Amino acid sequence: MIDNLHPEMLSNNTVRAQSAEASLSCMSLNFHATTAEVDLGALAFNYQQLRQLIPPSVKFLAVVKADAYGHGAIAVSRKLEELGTDFLGVASVPEGIELRQAGLDKPILILSGIYPEEVEEVLSHHLTPMVYRLDIAEALAAAARQRRTTIPIHIKVDTGMGRIGLLPEDTPAFVQRLQAFENLQIEGIASHLSTADEENPSFAEEQLKRFSRTIEEIKKVGITPRFYHVANSAALVNLSAANGTLVRPGIMLYGSYPAASLKPKIALRRVMSWKSRIADVKKVPAGNPISYGRTFVTQSTSLLAAIPVGYADGYSRLLSNRGEVLIKGKRAPVVGRVCMDWTMADVTAIPAVAAGDEVVLMGSQLGQEITAEEIGGWVGTISYEILCSVGRRVQRIYKG
Ligand SMILES: Cc1ncc(COP(=O)(O)O)c(C=O)c1O
Repeated sequence: MIDNLHPEMLSNNTVRAQSAEASLSCMSLNFHATTAEVDLGALAFNYQQLRQLIPPSVKFLAVVKADAYGHGAIAVSRKLEELGTDFLGVASVPEGIELRQAGLDKPILILSGIYPEEVEEVLSHHLTPMVYRLDIAEALAAAARQRRTTIPIHIKVDTGMGRIGLLPEDTPAFVQRLQAFENLQIEGIASHLSTADEENPSFAEEQLKRFSRTIEEIKKVGITPRFYHVANSAALVNLSAANGTLVRPGIMLYGSYPAASLKPKIALRRVMSWKSRIADVKKVPAGNPISYGRTFVTQSTSLLAAIPVGYADGYSRLLSNRGEVLIKGKRAPVVGRVCMDWTMADVTAIPAVAAGDEVVLMGSQLGQEITAEEIGGWVGTISYEILCSVGRRVQRIYKG
């Protein structure tokens, strides 16, 4: 019983227990079997590649929403600020606040628009909202008036994406009404393309025409915003006419291509490598079922590697019996169902595999590569979703 211990012993034991606990927690803090290495040097390379495509007069908004497409918004935004991005773009007010609290001070555009409850936070954190509703414009103007300040806003026009924004025909009247609000400064006007990554440019060109006409119309009511912008990554490479005075690339900063047809047009480097370490290797006889539901049964004596990654880490359950991983520079098939915390790979064909060996889930190893696009193909989705899904439990490690 601890009560019977001499006070000195108690304190010594307590100290020892505390330091043992500290070193244990230190060990567990330092070691993570499953990691996502984020190569900030590759991010810098991609930034320069994209920057080169636009004239120096065109400003650059780096899209860092969704935790910088899973790469970690704070570290990525710090690097992008250092590289000279003019704007950062996030999806929501909380994402913008996270960056302000981390000390980022470039203008931050909220790409999705805001709610009335967020007006005060937008002002106090110097965020720039996208606006397409009169009630929001009124609330922003009132809050800005109260603070005796002016708030920059960008108007969102829906030229064919069919998501958020004003229809082109409604935009001039909307902008005219905003002129009554002295505390709002219409700094920009934006739209979003739905097909810039497709080989047939006709609908994107139609959207651009609608956007240009809208800009001409609002000029007629006396508004010439400093920034007009529509270009995502694909448009930046495919449609120089989309440049405007500001571009908004996201996915290509992270080294992924929105469409395979864009690959020959621009060299990019993969920023994220997703890795794990084999927890155990086990020889099992023929007829051995693997994982939940026994969806895979060994045909012959097999060597199986247990990998500590699962759908809770963003490794999709749809990869069950479908995905592949790299071990010793060779592809090993995922066998059985992907669990919450575990994935099994058949390593029978790979010599000398042992516990502790590196597993590459996404990235390269000894000349072999698995890309986010390839994983997306296995599960019927796009690289964007694969990158954004890499879970919080996966430790991000920043290099370069
Ligand atoms: C409004 C807006 N602009 C720009 C982007 C960046 O697009 P991409 O990642 O394809 O470059 C996105 C991404 O979805 C977006 O929603």
